[in-house]
Amino acid sequence: MSVPIVRTVAELRTVVAGWRRSGASIAVVPTMGALHKGHLSLARTALQKADRVIVTLFVNPKQFNSAADLAAYPRTESEDAAKLAPVGAHLLYVPDAADMYPAGFATTVSVSGFSEGLCGAFRPGHFDGVATVVAKLFLQTGADFAFFGEKDFQQLQLVRRMVQDLDIPITVVPCPAVREADGLALSSRNVRLSPAERSVAPKLASVLLETAEQLARGSPVLPMLAKARAAILSAGYREVEYLELRGEADLQPIASIDRPARLLAAAWLGETRLIDNVKVSLTFPVAAKVHG
Ligand code: PAF
Repeated sequence: MSVPIVRTVAELRTVVAGWRRSGASIAVVPTMGALHKGHLSLARTALQKADRVIVTLFVNPKQFNSAADLAAYPRTESEDAAKLAPVGAHLLYVPDAADMYPAGFATTVSVSGFSEGLCGAFRPGHFDGVATVVAKLFLQTGADFAFFGEKDFQQLQLVRRMVQDLDIPITVVPCPAVREADGLALSSRNVRLSPAERSVAPKLASVLLETAEQLARGSPVLPMLAKARAAILSAGYREVEYLELRGEADLQPIASIDRPARLLAAAWLGETRLIDNVKVSLTFPVAAKVHG
């Protein structure tokens, strides 16, 4: 058993119109396939909120920085469809690149501010590609709700800003990153890690968490960020692309914890680039007090 697949906007709209006639609410979970437990958890959460759940699978050429990266991206459509069936998703939408971007396609959605810095500084054009395809997927599905993981926090906030700015009638629902037992955030890139790299990988999350805790307790920002970088490198990561403290809502750089914040990082472990982020609350829970 596998989830039904549609490939054209016309087929998608016919299914959606039928659901609408019966009064069903609709959620979309945008993906590029190679589904892992994090994606399945987004679909499960979506099923709690909406009557019908569409998962989209489109390896979006506009968000890749290199043709080689695009070509190497895993395409596992039948496995993905089989994984979604037991979850209970209702439809898998797998558009064709030629239909998404036909000859003459000339529109780019660009969310200034949110697309620059952090990952945007290292992946030129990436977030314009994301915003353009996500806007199309929202308009094609006409969904009421969209589910995004907080693991890609910059993407999540950029999509929320776009929805607000363009008055797209959809509610973006953020979902916490799903992690392995040792703290490593789930990512389709994790399968590229060698066993030795896999044992080092969770250090990114643990350093971010420890640093966030220290920052919430009032430790000075710049020395803490420098210490965190050094800890990630000495654990075995080869390069820290960025490690920054940003305001949670607007993703602007901040130098003190005067509002809810996020600590975000991208780092290379061998040939694999991993990203992660953690919340830095003003009221970060401190370790339980020991009564004497
Ligand atoms: O996060 C992803 O997998 C992609 O960036 C998305 C949101 C499906 C757009 O292509």
